[in-house]
Amino acid sequence: MGKSKTIIAGNWKMHLTMDQSEVLATRVQELTAKYVKDVEVVICPSYIALARVSEAAPKLSLGVQDVFYADEGAYTGEVAAAQAKEFAQFAIVGHSERRHIFNESSEDVARKAAACIRNEMTPIVCVGETEVERDHGETRQVLNDQIAASLTMLTAGEVRDIVIAYEPVWAIGTGKNARPEDVTAAVATIRAAITEMFGAKTAAVCRILYGGSVKADTAASYLKLEGVNGLLVGGASLNDHEFSTIVEWGSTT
Ligand code: PGA
Repeated sequence: MGKSKTIIAGNWKMHLTMDQSEVLATRVQELTAKYVKDVEVVICPSYIALARVSEAAPKLSLGVQDVFYADEGAYTGEVAAAQAKEFAQFAIVGHSERRHIFNESSEDVARKAAACIRNEMTPIVCVGETEVERDHGETRQVLNDQIAASLTMLTAGEVRDIVIAYEPVWAIGTGKNARPEDVTAAVATIRAAITEMFGAKTAAVCRILYGGSVKADTAASYLKLEGVNGLLVGGASLNDHEFSTIVEWGSTT
């Protein structure tokens, strides 16, 4: 298997009107056009803007920020992977904001990841320790537990094609940068946990992203790390130039 494309994913969270979403998607498509042969550019707008963004930027990959784990039914307010797949190829599951604000457990995340696979979407499964856990030296344990519980419904063949995002909770939206050596160690822990569950071949090809306050001027320091296959970008993905510069780094690093 050849080297997989670097993934640069932008999580727009609960930002932008429909018009603003369309304008930003159009700009990102223009500015990143020359890099998409080397970089998989994934933008994750809010659900309500998904159809507009898909029409405005057909050359970009689209992701959603969450999916529900059932394919249909009486689940007021939820959106199924079976519905989202019409527009999106990727789905973020288990983002720390989902885990911490909405009390999602790794069991929920496991069911959501399975729903993505069942509907031929690629889950971006997020894991990461809180500041307290880090300060107590629990990062490895937390990552092991989250990986074990979040991937439990998948087979080795399915895990080969998923994406994991290592996002230390204390670095998300805070401007605090994780040290590259800590990211290398965390990514190695994640691959070791996957090796334990699914074997070394699966762990070697499964793509792992870093996320947490990534900006254009820090992107390269993470992209060049051993075992890091791309970035999940929040705040900086809302600025067309900033995000495109990160994509450019993805094509050269
Ligand atoms: P941030 O968000 O880049 O704004 O820290 C990252 C994320 O939440 O995925």
